[in-house]
Amino acid sequence: MRPRSIAVVGTSRKPGSIGREVLTRLVEGGFRGPLYPINPAVDVIGSLRAYPTVTACPGPVDLAVIAVPRDKVLAVLDDCAAAKVGGLVVITSGFKEVGPAGAALEQQLVERVRRAGMRMVGPNCMGVLNSDPAINLNATFAPGRPPSGPIGFISQSGALGMAVLDFAQSRDLGIGMFVSTGNKADVSGNDLLEYWEQDPSIRLILMYVESFGNPLKFRELAERIGREKPIVVVKAGRTAAGARAAASHTGALAGEDALCDALFHQCGVIRAQTVEELFDIALAFAHQPLPGGNRVGIVTNSGGPGIMLADACEMLGLAVPEFSPETATALRELLPEEASVGNPVDMIASATEESFQRVVGLVAADPQVDAVIVVFLPPVLTDPERVAVRLGDLADRLASGRTPKPILGCVMGARRAAGSLAELQKHRVPSYAFPESAAKALSAMVRYQAWRKRPRGSVPRFPSGRLQAEQVIEGVRQAGREWLSEKEVGSILRAYGIPMVKSVSAGARGAVADAAHGVGYPIVIKISSPAIIHKARVGGVIVDIRTDEELRLKLDDLEKRLAAQGFEPGKYGFVVQPMLPGGREVIMGLSRTPKMGPLVMFGLGGIFVETVKDIVFRLAPITDREAMEMITGIRAYPILKGLPGEAGVAVQTLQEMLLRLSQMAVEVPEIAELDLNPVLAFPESDRCAAVDARIRVGSGGARVPVAPSNATGDGPPPGKMDIPPRV
Ligand code: COA
Repeated sequence: MRPRSIAVVGTSRKPGSIGREVLTRLVEGGFRGPLYPINPAVDVIGSLRAYPTVTACPGPVDLAVIAVPRDKVLAVLDDCAAAKVGGLVVITSGFKEVGPAGAALEQQLVERVRRAGMRMVGPNCMGVLNSDPAINLNATFAPGRPPSGPIGFISQSGALGMAVLDFAQSRDLGIGMFVSTGNKADVSGNDLLEYWEQDPSIRLILMYVESFGNPLKFRELAERIGREKPIVVVKAGRTAAGARAAASHTGALAGEDALCDALFHQCGVIRAQTVEELFDIALAFAHQPLPGGNRVGIVTNSGGPGIMLADACEMLGLAVPEFSPETATALRELLPEEASVGNPVDMIASATEESFQRVVGLVAADPQVDAVIVVFLPPVLTDPERVAVRLGDLADRLASGRTPKPILGCVMGARRAAGSLAELQKHRVPSYAFPESAAKALSAMVRYQAWRKRPRGSVPRFPSGRLQAEQVIEGVRQAGREWLSEKEVGSILRAYGIPMVKSVSAGARGAVADAAHGVGYPIVIKISSPAIIHKARVGGVIVDIRTDEELRLKLDDLEKRLAAQGFEPGKYGFVVQPMLPGGREVIMGLSRTPKMGPLVMFGLGGIFVETVKDIVFRLAPITDREAMEMITGIRAYPILKGLPGEAGVAVQTLQEMLLRLSQMAVEVPEIAELDLNPVLAFPESDRCAAVDARIRVGSGGARVPVAPSNATGDGPPPGKMDIPPRV
């Protein structure tokens, strides 16, 4: 990103071709070093001396930008290696993105690059940019030229990258470095994160991501780097997820989007839902200090938008508090009688630039307020630009004060507002067209700040049940099965100290009555068969049976019902459990993905799991804090906490169960899917237990390899994979 000299290989004589455009951008951008156009056919291109090859250049070449047709790239790479080039940006497309032949060629690129000790951005990318005036590197073919600033931007889409640079320029958003990563064959997003971690000029990292090459490495890096430099991500491909065939609820619900949410949440990454939101958030982070808390003071010259903003703030978890009595009194003295001096302050349409400045100043100084949002409808009577000048002045003073508080603007009415927007931009006050955008940007800052301040918690260790679990799994494998029987499930849960309600198996109908007496009425009976995973769906669960006679009648019914569905008596057995009246039904689960490893799920349980989808995922291992956040994070948490007049359930016990499950997920990779559904939760901790559970074993042991740090791209890492030892 800081080359001293550049060769543009494939600089065409044709103006407007890609290679030629890259050269033009470099020249126009004022690159501070020798530029060598490479073209075998001519000596001069655009008044620069051209050379037939990189090795023919008269001086050393740090960076080669390659825009030759696909079949010529390998030969160019060899030439670059011979010329001891350090870095390559391969713009040419037609590699992994077009299919297996392209992927094979891409692999050859990677091998040559690594053999020569070079690094490569791309292929199939739009280039790189470093706007540091000491470098002036614009090795892209994008038209926009953003101002320099503290942002590092990684874009997996080249086309989006172009739009981004253009937009950044129009909003005066300072982009320090931009990298279009393309196919990420060598340099990945993770590499860039590590690079920017070390670079003091980059203070905020924005990413447009379509896929993660190594999400676990991303988690580790983002968690560390994000504490110093906020990372804002927009992730494309939200909806194509989750359609994998999975037999457990947990597996079925673990769509890619839910996993990304878990990943981002756990490492403090700010997720923007759209590219527009990414910019809205970036403006606030880049130009304003972080707020100390979530309390917003709202100042407006129009009631409606002020109320809209207050609503949006509260919905996003921000508070719109009462002002302190001193502020309220001062506002009352300052403003006309018709004005409203609560929060939001509505100064009404007659507000002048003078009153804007004084009122915003008063609100910002109030100890009850952590941030100010000014909603400004260009007034008819006052010059909007003059208002913006005063607000800008004030923002400058606030920014240099002892305890800077963020100030955000919402300027509605674009046509009349153009001048005032430019003025606010000059003073680094982020301005939004609508109140909700301002609220979202501020709430992202508040959430980030809260994450940074929050202690991580710790991962407790319980006695390991791994040996016992492995023995059970070995037996299941030898029997050629995937799903565990009730007994086997019980054994694994016991090994990990996860409470399961007493369950007595009765192979045939004749043994059910004895089992029922052993357990004691009232009881629940469930059918048991490796062919039936979801018993309730076939009507195979009967609750609250109180007598022998009732048992006989219910079993007759059950057999008839199952026979109608093709399950003949003798082809299934029974499990008898005591009936636990009351209790709240929750679900806990475990699933795994090839790239992100094990996941733990918690949610509202029972038969509505997949319809209501009130669930939370986290990547294992989870900390004690994360386990508690999972429980308190579901919408139904108020029900678990206890409705009025009711005791809440023992959440600490649920927390411990989740932590034990998380340990099991890490220690026993053979478990592919697990559902504890429902877990019945009671106020008494010793009554909380899973009443139904299923476990499926997979190929097992496929731990996610952690690639060496210089090879985090999508391609296979060189050399030996670093597979962490079993815990
Ligand atoms: N060394 C140096 N220059 C070479 C060369 C070599 N080995 N081989 C060919 N060239 C020159 C050509 O002579 C030509 O110059 P000329 O026009 O003066 O003769 C120049 O390189 C370009 O070659 P050309 O055949 O005209 O290719 P092109 O410009 O039409 O296309 C790419 C080249 C790289 C742009 C094209 O292959 C491509 O990949 N396009 C898609 C790029 C893309 O979308 N990337 C992702 C963005 S997100």
